[in-house]
Amino acid sequence: MSKGFERLRAMTPTISVGVNAADMMKVGSELSLLEQTRVELAHFDVMDGCFTPMMTLGPPFIKAVKTPLLKDVHLMIEEPLDKVDAYVAAGADVITVHAESSTHIHRVLQKLGGMENANDPARGLVRGLALNPGTPLAVLDPLLDEVELIMLLGINPGWGGQNFIVSTFSRMAEVKDMIVNLGKDILVCVDGGVTKGNIAKIAEAGVDVVVTGSAVFDGQDPVGNARFMLETLGSQRAVQG
Ligand code: DX5
Ligand code: ZN
Repeated sequence: MSKGFERLRAMTPTISVGVNAADMMKVGSELSLLEQTRVELAHFDVMDGCFTPMMTLGPPFIKAVKTPLLKDVHLMIEEPLDKVDAYVAAGADVITVHAESSTHIHRVLQKLGGMENANDPARGLVRGLALNPGTPLAVLDPLLDEVELIMLLGINPGWGGQNFIVSTFSRMAEVKDMIVNLGKDILVCVDGGVTKGNIAKIAEAGVDVVVTGSAVFDGQDPVGNARFMLETLGSQRAVQG
């Protein structure tokens, strides 16, 4: 297992806070607030206006953000094969591509497996594979040797603040079973639609990384919200023993 994977595994269960939900005019100070908490991951939602209806941010933005948090880059872009280099060079620590985004997704994952973390090669790069809510879990089978993290979308990607799709609960359980049955150690992540109201139930599913954007950056209490999310995840895990 790569150093990057081990570092991430040691943090789990944890949250990855959606940067796009912050006030874009003061991203630096919004993220610094989180340094008062145990948040260790900043989630960047990259949308190209083709794979998703909206366009968001790209490598120059990711590179420009100065933070001690690890950069968790979620690529919602068409055919990422020749584009991932720029995101790795911009400082991604975790880089997640969508199974639906490429004819040659296995090749994309293989390529990422041979790349180094541009922040520090010793830090390792974690490869993630994301699945939209409508994608059958069977697509994972031939790809599991090439991933360190599986991300299940709890919403159809495009924007924050949508309602969590209920079928994601059984998908989380199925993916966990699949990984255990294969005897593998792969991180399971859920992204989209997480709120302070449903995080306890999501925690019960035993996911490792929970992405949360609008529920943390609600314009009121990002520090309190992040602490609540972390504590709920941690306490649920403690209950499970
Ligand atoms: C979906 C993105 C998500 C999402 C998170 O398009 O991948 O990261 O916007 O936002 P919330 O937590 O507001 O659903
Ligand atoms: Zn995301």
